[in-house]
Amino acid sequence: MKNRRTASSEGETLRIREMTLDDLPQVMAIEEVSFPTPWTAGLFIEEMGYPFCCDLVAYTGDALVGYISFAVILDEIHLRNIAVHPRRRRSGIATALMRVLMETGIRKRTKRVTMEARPSNAAALALYKKFGFVVEGIRPDYYGDTGEDALILWADIVKMSAIISEAERANA
Ligand SMILES: CC(C)(COP(=O)(O)OP(=O)(O)OC[C@H]1O[C@@H](n2cnc3c(N)ncnc32)[C@H](O)[C@@H]1OP(=O)(O)O)[C@@H](O)C(=O)NCCC(=O)NCCS
Repeated sequence: MKNRRTASSEGETLRIREMTLDDLPQVMAIEEVSFPTPWTAGLFIEEMGYPFCCDLVAYTGDALVGYISFAVILDEIHLRNIAVHPRRRRSGIATALMRVLMETGIRKRTKRVTMEARPSNAAALALYKKFGFVVEGIRPDYYGDTGEDALILWADIVKMSAIISEAERANA
């Protein structure tokens, strides 16, 4: 994907591009403060090697402020990871990353997006609700670190696109 520019809600220019090995120190710094069981650098490297995986980073200036990893599998997108630097949250960075996921899904003719989330992760659940995700199932005892179940969420790509366009019209 080409370097893509957008604006966060703080009015800064946000650049979104494919993740490279050079991004990993900054990615790992965010990953380690964002999750009870963070991904390892090796897992990110493995992901970057799969042709069906898409790993993107968002920058403002020289600072890596967020990233997203997803896989395109047949007509589905599996959202595997998304995180934003703790000091940069609530400024639309995850929204911008989700917009690129949605555009990729439409370009690749996928129909639905799925992911797992912890019931205790209120911020993530609020983000996903905003994009039209609904809980369609539960994986019992999914998270070994806390023993939590996982919520299985699904969203329709076309509906997600309409929700994003509507939100952008409202903010214009
Ligand atoms: C979840 C996460 C990626 C959201 O990133 P973000 O850049 O802050 O999200 P955005 O600014 O784009 O927020 C979009 C919307 O999501 C919802 N939202 C995001 N964070 C929220 C919070 N802490 N509380 C309530 N709603 C929240 C709001 O509806 C928000 O819109 P608004 O700001 O206009 O009200 C971020 O909190 C994070 O990195 N968390 C740790 C990692 C994680 O849990 N990842 C998800 C794994 S399932």
